Amino acid sequence: MERFPIDVTMVPVGPVRGTIRPPGSKSITNRAFLVAALADGESRLEGWLDADDTQAMRTALSALGAELAPEGSTMVVRGRSGRLSAPEEAVDVRSSGTTARFITAAAALADGPVRVDGSAQLRRRPIEPLVVALRSAGVGVDYLVATGALPICVHPAPLPGGHLAIDASVSSQFASGLMLVSPFAERDTEIDFVDGVAVSRTYLETTAEVMRAFGASVSVDESVSVGSGRQYVGRHYEIEADASAATYPLVAGAITGGVVTVIGIPAASTQADLGVLDVLSAMGCTVDRRPTSITLSAPSDGKLQPVDVDLSLAPDGALSIAVACLFASGPSTLRGLSTLRFKETDRLTALATELGKLGADTTVTDDTIVVVPGAPSGARITTYDDHRMAMAFSLAGLVIPEVVIDDPGCVAKTWPGYWSALEELRPGSVIAGPTATIVAIDGPGGVGKTTVSRTLAEKLGLGHLDTGAFYRGATAAVLRSGVSISDPVAVVDVVHRAALTFRDGAMLLDEVDISDEIRSSSVTSAVSAVAAIPEVRDRMVQLQRRWVAHQPKGAVVEGRDIGTVVFPDADLKIFLTARPDVRARRRAGEVADADVGSIQRDLERRDRADSSREVSPLRAADDAVVIDTSDLPMEGVVEVALSHVAHLG
Ligand code: DC
Repeated sequence: MERFPIDVTMVPVGPVRGTIRPPGSKSITNRAFLVAALADGESRLEGWLDADDTQAMRTALSALGAELAPEGSTMVVRGRSGRLSAPEEAVDVRSSGTTARFITAAAALADGPVRVDGSAQLRRRPIEPLVVALRSAGVGVDYLVATGALPICVHPAPLPGGHLAIDASVSSQFASGLMLVSPFAERDTEIDFVDGVAVSRTYLETTAEVMRAFGASVSVDESVSVGSGRQYVGRHYEIEADASAATYPLVAGAITGGVVTVIGIPAASTQADLGVLDVLSAMGCTVDRRPTSITLSAPSDGKLQPVDVDLSLAPDGALSIAVACLFASGPSTLRGLSTLRFKETDRLTALATELGKLGADTTVTDDTIVVVPGAPSGARITTYDDHRMAMAFSLAGLVIPEVVIDDPGCVAKTWPGYWSALEELRPGSVIAGPTATIVAIDGPGGVGKTTVSRTLAEKLGLGHLDTGAFYRGATAAVLRSGVSISDPVAVVDVVHRAALTFRDGAMLLDEVDISDEIRSSSVTSAVSAVAAIPEVRDRMVQLQRRWVAHQPKGAVVEGRDIGTVVFPDADLKIFLTARPDVRARRRAGEVADADVGSIQRDLERRDRADSSREVSPLRAADDAVVIDTSDLPMEGVVEVALSHVAHLG
């Protein structure tokens, strides 16, 4: 387990820029764990979230007889065909709300009485509406300590189906719990909402999506219908990145005047907190949603507009939006937030208190908070053992000096790697210091970039980075994974998960030297296609800038887009060219049994692909020194380059 300090002091940054893949969705992971555990046969779940709340679900399901075993990034679940076994001990749901509600419902399918208990925090959260609905379906439930709260004992009975009513005005999780077990009822089930109200209805759609993916028949409308007899079937299933988690980097971009790309959430995703995207647009940000990614750009004038919005469908996202409102140019009103009182803490009160410490004036009513920004001031933020409070308020510290976040470890509930992910977005960590020298050397293949850059770096005592090796390394990772290079969503996902490092001139993948593999013909033929994907480039640029930031004196960086995109402010930009036949002969010298003709054709094909791609095509920067190396020995090229370095002062 990662160790966390007792607090963190945030340091404000300039505009954050970067690409991030949030962890797997907590909501989908916990639904998929349960459905797979109840399915016929084996399931393989990719991209699952490994955090406190999902460990709670995992151990609870194991206690009920399901087998869940991680194999790398895949969770292998052996399903129980709808029958769970009652353990002797109480099932401990820890502090996980979804686990408490889903396991309480699933206990109805056990072969004996099941006691369910949780942490002190969870014992304070409501369970009564689900208990009422289960009792109406003939399932016995006893309260073991206090009425309306865990611990409870569930006495299973066959679920009859038919009409059930549930009070889902406090949490949609009660209804989701009932939905998840309804395929095992004797007849079709129709779930109505008391007074027609279901809060966070979008979460019911997410529940239905997961159920359908495993073969259930379910529809969500004014009421929810679940067919009986269509039970879950084990399968291979991809878990999306978490939309609630995505709100933190996106808001970080919005409030610092930055640009942030989040990947891993498909365009068709039903995750509730995607509602936050509309709010950020209303605040003046540009939100570009593509099949593989979401990119947020802060308003160009840096001013966020105040908003008056109903966030009842994106309740978790309300916390990051409330923090964004601190930086709006006027008072904002966030409505529809009554359920926030029943989360890890009373989040409405907590928001008001902590926003107040940072200089805002807040007014809270039953379900609304009004945030009037004031003169910002740093403060120690209490986080109430609530991961979302910690993550949301850390964002304020990217702008306001001296924001201290208490108990940063509470993020482990849903995002154990949050603090390192935030660190990656800090421009300070991806842009070299002011005294470093950066020399950019661009040009097509075979012009002598590597020889020139390496020699120049040695003579100047700078680091040497071959960015082509990063694109080749990413391509090797894609080929190894077996995903199709014509499936950009899958390619982007693999590239973001690949641990690529360039050390002492060698390319490493997961700390294994793949320098030979990246020169293979399969990598060479696939690399242009992989390098043309915008989200792959974003990631590569991020890794390359970070690499250079770690060079104490700076670096000579070679590639195709260094002077134009990666380091547009480089101290010196050189663009090398050479005639195609010369380049082919040079490349042939690097490969055994080379056929110059086919190498020239391949170089020309890659030149065309690299120069005509939409994002960062190969071209000389306007302020680059262009050197034709066709008839110049490499020493001559280095001399010309050094003479330009001498002029830098
Ligand atoms: O320099 P090289 O042949 O090793 O580069 C391999 C591929 O990577 C090249 O076809 C284009 C791509 N690339 C790129 O798009 N941008 C860079 N900065 C470096 C390489």
